[in-house]
Amino acid sequence: MNFLEERIVKDGVVKAGNILKVDSFLNHQMDMRLFRQMGEEFKRRFADKPINKILTIEASGIGIACVAAECFDVPVVFAKKSQSVNIDGDVYVSEVESFTHKRVNRVIVSKKFLGPEDHILIIDDFLANGCALQGLISIVDQAGGTVEGIGIAIEKGFQPGGAKIREMGYPLESLAIVESMDDATGTVVFRPQP
Ligand code: G4P
Ligand code: NA
Ligand code: NA
Repeated sequence: MNFLEERIVKDGVVKAGNILKVDSFLNHQMDMRLFRQMGEEFKRRFADKPINKILTIEASGIGIACVAAECFDVPVVFAKKSQSVNIDGDVYVSEVESFTHKRVNRVIVSKKFLGPEDHILIIDDFLANGCALQGLISIVDQAGGTVEGIGIAIEKGFQPGGAKIREMGYPLESLAIVESMDDATGTVVFRPQP
């Protein structure tokens, strides 16, 4: 097991409905030493890519993306979830469906902060159905930029997002891929990684 898988086994809590709670170290209270390790691991996995900017989505992607951005020494931009009906022409927009919350979020990034010269690493905490990622990829496409890679902390391998994104040809690196979990026993099984 790698450092993140070990931490999930130690402090993650499996909830009914295939939900993994990691709020003691990842998306509520945040362990900065762990985040630093994740940032360095992303840097190692994407070492050959000409990344000049990191893109994430609010809220819980931001912390990990900030630490990763320090490791890459690049700026970080986060997409904002906006309920506003009136969107002006100064932003890229995409619709992101949330299965968990059963609603559609509009996600926006100002045109000032993404353009054709950008080589982007997308970072997020969870990958489940992949809707958030598809929205971020669409925003990079609208900007004419290049998605150089996608770095995820925890992928739920039994949901379809990861397979879809890999089929589209994007280099996707998830630090922990949960193959299955069981809330009765609290067991988490990971997909073996090289
Ligand atoms: P998708 O973007 O992969 O399609 O995700 P989905 O709609 O399935 O999930 C919606 C939200 O729930 C996402 O956060 C996602 O990170 C989170 N999520 C999905 N599965 C789990 C899980 O097992 N454990 C935890 N802790 N979170 C999970 P969000 O609402 O978009 O954003 P945020 O404000 O929480 O960052
Ligand atoms: Na989340
Ligand atoms: Na997230």
